[in-house]
Amino acid sequence: MNVFIVGIAGATGSRVAKLLGEHGDYVSGLYRRPEQISALDAVGAIGILGDLTTISEQELASAANGADVIVFTAGAGEQDNDSMTDCVDGDGVRKAIAAARLASISKLLLVSVFPEAWRERNMPKSFEHYMAVKKRADVELVHSKLAWIILRPSALTNEPGTGSVSLSPAEIHTAISRDDVATTIATLLHSPRVQNTILEVTAGDTTIASAVAALN
Ligand SMILES: NC(=O)c1ccc[n+]([C@@H]2O[C@H](COP(=O)([O-])OP(=O)(O)OC[C@H]3O[C@@H](n4cnc5c(N)ncnc54)[C@H](OP(=O)(O)O)[C@@H]3O)[C@@H](O)[C@H]2O)c1
Repeated sequence: MNVFIVGIAGATGSRVAKLLGEHGDYVSGLYRRPEQISALDAVGAIGILGDLTTISEQELASAANGADVIVFTAGAGEQDNDSMTDCVDGDGVRKAIAAARLASISKLLLVSVFPEAWRERNMPKSFEHYMAVKKRADVELVHSKLAWIILRPSALTNEPGTGSVSLSPAEIHTAISRDDVATTIATLLHSPRVQNTILEVTAGDTTIASAVAALN
């Protein structure tokens, strides 16, 4: 499989790139900082340097050309900067959808968020803005006419992966390691019958292979 990852040098994106590379897939993706190329080289991934806020749809399409699927795992990081959230988590997804169409890439997997995450907390306005932008991006993808998967992980940690998760259209928001999210993404990509579905994933007791197989 040929996979293009938007946000390939990020904490989740780089884990997905490594797993897919180990599986024998061709992996490329958009990264933002020149010094990140050595980490991409180390996992055999091809990096295309660019910034989502300035790259055109056509440039992104050229970068992704030949891919079977785009994985979007970039994010502005809930930072206190609504316009950056708009540009990366909102317009960035829009550009990826447009690029997929221009490059005749039929499928996009979007890493999103649990809509009800941390409703019990008094979060800053920028977090509420982030949640709203993420939800609008989900809606744009659902209506894009591409084949799509929206994967909503709960709070991400850097704990070692367990190889097990709880995965379904509705889960309780807890936490999950990026390792397990990356394995879930790689497994979903290799399960072509799973598409046009919103999935929530959090820590759990079902092996990732079984959890994904149960969706088929
Ligand atoms: N954090 C959580 O608890 C949580 C929970 C649920 C879902 N999510 C979502 O999960 C995804 C992955 O999260 P993560 O924490 O693993 O991500 P991360 O490490 O913050 O990676 C995000 C990547 O996006 C890149 N990026 C940001 N702005 C960019 C731009 N303008 N142009 C190009 N690339 C840009 C970053 O580049 P740099 O490396 O240069 O910074 C980074 O590599 C995100 O979409 C996030 O919203 C996060």
